Amino acid sequence: MASQGTSIWAKHQIFEKHTYWLMLGILIMISIGGLVEIAPLFYLKGTVETVQGMRPYTPLELVGRNIYIREGCYNCHSQMIRPLRDEVERYGHYSLAAESMYDHPFQWGSKRTGPDLARVGGKYSDIWHQEHLHNPRSVVPASIMPAYPWLSQTKLNTKHVEQDMKVLRLEGVPYTDDDIAHAQADLVTQSTTDAEADAFQKRYPKAQVRDFDGNPGDLTEADALIAYLQMLGTLVDFKLYDNKANVR
Ligand code: HEC
Repeated sequence: MASQGTSIWAKHQIFEKHTYWLMLGILIMISIGGLVEIAPLFYLKGTVETVQGMRPYTPLELVGRNIYIREGCYNCHSQMIRPLRDEVERYGHYSLAAESMYDHPFQWGSKRTGPDLARVGGKYSDIWHQEHLHNPRSVVPASIMPAYPWLSQTKLNTKHVEQDMKVLRLEGVPYTDDDIAHAQADLVTQSTTDAEADAFQKRYPKAQVRDFDGNPGDLTEADALIAYLQMLGTLVDFKLYDNKANVR
């Protein structure tokens, strides 16, 4: 004990006797650990593996996605299939990081009152979605999902789509000047049955082109939201990848 004043033990007593020093010490250690683990992810090229088929949203899907966020669909629906056998059997291939690489903000969600929607595209017809959004009970009698009858009656506001695309570009989504210049025309093309869609589909491969809300006369919020729902999970061809790997 005589050499207490100079020994390491004596210095350590500061932390053992004073809660605030201990808390400060813990904070510093955790910050270093956090920085070492998290910071490299921002600089590594390989954090998100590139996957064939991923492309930015079409203007119509993008506006639909904004409606999905506005209506709070993410409060009840996740868009992230975990690599667990029961999930993969129910929803399809587990979600890949690359599948949300153009999502700002991502829509993984945190709660499933309703089913996961990451691969709902193509699961139902447009008419099913029209009915379901208008009144979920009309197609799923026991459903507790709220009705969204205004979507099919509200004209789509497309004023901000160019600005949205520019902001997303700042965040790393590769929209070109050409994509942005054609945004309004592309909105109309995608929601019109029998449209001349070659140039559009070159910009956005696998984009589905038709009238989505069952009302060819008007471009409504339902058009955009259903276009978005119908593309979810349809871009990546999982036959190219090993289906069973990593499933626990
Ligand atoms: C209060 C929770 C809740 C909210 C909010 C909600 N849903 Fe649902 N949703 C459900 C439930 C529960 C089901 C399952 C029963 C059914 O199919 O209606 C469901 C089912 C669905 C399905 C069918 C999924 C499948 O694989 O069968 C789709 C598509 C869907 N919702 C889209 C939406 C959209 C789009 C919104 C926002 C406009 C939304 N939901 C908002 C609870 C919700």
